[in-house]
Amino acid sequence: MSKTPMMQQFYEVKRKYKDAILFFRVGDFYETFEADAKLVSKELDIVLTARGAGTNRVPLAGVPYHAVDSYITRLIRKGYKVAICEQMEEPPAKGIVKRDVVRVMTAGTLIEDSLLNAKENNYLAALVMEKSKLGLAFADISTAEFYCMQVQDEDPIARLLMEFSRFDPKECLIPEYLMKNEALISMLNQNFELTISPYEEFQFSYDHAKNTLLEHFQVLSLESFGCESSPLALQAAGAIISYLQETQRGPVQNIQQLKTYHLDDYMFLDAASIRNLELIKNMRDGSPNGTLLQVLSHTNTSMGRRLLQNWLLHPLQNPTHINERLDGVSELKEHTLLRAEINELLTQAADIERLISRINYKRTNVKDVLGLKETLILVPQISNLLNTTTCAILNRIRTSLKGLPSIVQLIDAAIISESSEKTTYIIKQGYNEDLDKLRISVKDGKKFIGELESKEQRRTGIKSLKVRFNKVFGYYIEVTKANLDSVPKDYIRKQTLVNAERFITPELKEYEALVLNNQDQITELEKQLFDEVLDQICAHTQEIQVIANALAQLDILVNFAEIAQRYNYNRPQMTNNLTIEITEGRHPVIEQIVMNEPFIPNDIRMDCENHMLLIITGPNMAGKSTILRQTALICLMAQIGSFVPAKKATLSILDRIFTRIGAVDDLTRRQSTFMVEMLETATILNQATQKSLIILDEIGRGTATFDGLSIAWAVAEYIHDNIGAKTLFATHYHELTELDSFLSGTQNYNIAVAESHGKIHFLRKVVPGAASKSYGIQVAKLAGLPSVVTERAKEILTQIEQQSQFQLAGTKISREIRKIPKKKSLKTSTQKTLFDVEY
Ligand SMILES: Nc1ncnc2c1ncn2[C@@H]1O[C@H](COP(=O)(O)OP(=O)(O)O)[C@@H](O)[C@H]1O
Ligand SMILES: [Mg+2]
Repeated sequence: MSKTPMMQQFYEVKRKYKDAILFFRVGDFYETFEADAKLVSKELDIVLTARGAGTNRVPLAGVPYHAVDSYITRLIRKGYKVAICEQMEEPPAKGIVKRDVVRVMTAGTLIEDSLLNAKENNYLAALVMEKSKLGLAFADISTAEFYCMQVQDEDPIARLLMEFSRFDPKECLIPEYLMKNEALISMLNQNFELTISPYEEFQFSYDHAKNTLLEHFQVLSLESFGCESSPLALQAAGAIISYLQETQRGPVQNIQQLKTYHLDDYMFLDAASIRNLELIKNMRDGSPNGTLLQVLSHTNTSMGRRLLQNWLLHPLQNPTHINERLDGVSELKEHTLLRAEINELLTQAADIERLISRINYKRTNVKDVLGLKETLILVPQISNLLNTTTCAILNRIRTSLKGLPSIVQLIDAAIISESSEKTTYIIKQGYNEDLDKLRISVKDGKKFIGELESKEQRRTGIKSLKVRFNKVFGYYIEVTKANLDSVPKDYIRKQTLVNAERFITPELKEYEALVLNNQDQITELEKQLFDEVLDQICAHTQEIQVIANALAQLDILVNFAEIAQRYNYNRPQMTNNLTIEITEGRHPVIEQIVMNEPFIPNDIRMDCENHMLLIITGPNMAGKSTILRQTALICLMAQIGSFVPAKKATLSILDRIFTRIGAVDDLTRRQSTFMVEMLETATILNQATQKSLIILDEIGRGTATFDGLSIAWAVAEYIHDNIGAKTLFATHYHELTELDSFLSGTQNYNIAVAESHGKIHFLRKVVPGAASKSYGIQVAKLAGLPSVVTERAKEILTQIEQQSQFQLAGTKISREIRKIPKKKSLKTSTQKTLFDVEY
């Protein structure tokens, strides 16, 4: 038996969209068939039925069109792609309705507000890899941000992990040949929740990609985008544009800029540091609770919130740029009233960055357009508020905040605002003459029909005569059976009911036709006029994007000023003298969550001479990890342009921050192994420079004591002798405190505790010198271990200390280590032998 025409149409379309679930519009439903139906039924828990009979019987699962968004969201979250096939015309009298795919929805190509998180970007990534070279591009079609970059790294996959950690893409395009690269694919799967989309290789080829970009941007050269000399970046960027065009089934006209990232402009922040410093997600449950982002994000707009996350993960290295931001914060901090006024206006601003994208794809509504108008009205007001400010960044923001009065006027003239009378119309009266005429005739027609009832009642003398409307007959006159004798001759009978008959008259039908036709024309014309308004707005896309970005920046700066005021932060002094000097520094997150004790500030001084490597000891829970992280966070905050939680901070600009945490502490990693810890340590030793800050928190812990100690010792030695990076090293190996007598750049510090009557009390003060004892048993007591156990532990400890040649104070073992001669000139090979540990 041959298939029905509709099913033939389905198979034809499906052939072109094999890797997507095809949502096939049939009347008020989106139907899925065959394998798609089985999958959808299983994934969405909806009934699997069938269509047709006999050999034509095919599995079917459908969802009502009005609820389709939520179903699509769920499928996309699960990593599927959904192709939306619409009816492209009104159903014709004969034959089959035309259908076509209007869009393919994938995790990385979403535009709808309902499918996105307002606080986060939704990036699509593309990558190319050639030996040690890596080309990357990221685009968020919902905000029109588009970046590309090229890097060279001995370990391109580790580097990829680092850059992806900053953008956290939801989908990644990979040339088909790279799908075979197992290391790459498993790295992506392990670290990110993203859809991997293999994409045809030719889309990534240089010539093809370059042409795609030239055509898309309508330019003759890519010079102004700065990517001409980065072929791999360009290849990735070209593939992204092709893919977006395919999924949107048309040009992606909202994307009008491509920014080439020069990675040297930003501080290196690898995935482990982003995780360990809890910048965006906490280590406990991956939520933003207790993160630096949470402390810093009191922005008024979603645009500001998204940009803040970008700033946070891209700390600057250029002192001029850092100081520009700090100047802005400083000026806004001084002007409390101004800040309040800006805040007040910003809270009213709509998310015009995403809204203009929706307008570009005509996936928008009246509310969006009105939101744009309201926001554009605020823009000159905000700009005026900045008239009195003087610093460069606020000046730039002020000049970017142009109000686009022509757009405001257009929207104002054309679109009925929500607050005005309830109406189904969207276009204002007086905007279009034809529309006004049509509306007047509809009104007249309706008036005539409305008056007809009483007129006919009078003419016929039938008091119960009614004029009504239904979808089948249109307008009709209804007369009850009892009154049928009085029906005039010109009434034409249409329908007989139990108690009544329905009639029409030629005059009634004439007016009806007028009303209905005009009504259709009005709908049509309104849609056309609305589309024209959208087109005129689209012509200003780039200007609106500039305004959106200026608002986002201002939002962040005001927010930084507000936080500085509220939490008592101060302006850091940026230098290049390789010295870090923090007076009364605090941990920005912990100071807000410690409840039952005040947060104790601490001073830290580091340089590249005799305060390069600080060894920090102290009992468990004393505050070692806190002082380490707080130092890193203060440096990072300064480099994103924020004030810092310290009384005074003079900070040399860092090129990289590395943070490593001993395997036992790092509870979140599934592969919480010593191996990971060592791999990460190896990265530091390979990549750190004199301008870096290294945070080592109890490394070596994940292995046997002597292995761990030896490794920790050797790592410290290597950093000291070969790198010269400022390093904070918290350790429970008291033996390491002996390092200061061999390495000139090393200093011992400990976190003071007081002991009285066998109980310890945490003082939280960092003081010079090594901790004298480990206080493990006292801490155990504090934690509530039964005293029988702690007493017994004390006995055992005393025994061991007496017997062991390896005493806690460590003097003996360090004397032994010292005797081991160090071979010079082992700069690279040391690392290898170091980590060739077997276990
Ligand atoms: N400077 C401080 N002021 C107040 N409380 C602190 C301070 N430093 C640490 N704490 C508290 O002590 C807890 C343990 O600190 P942590 O740095 O993890 O200790 P360690 O790494 O030495 O075991 C923190 O969670 C915090 O509650
Ligand atoms: Mg700790």
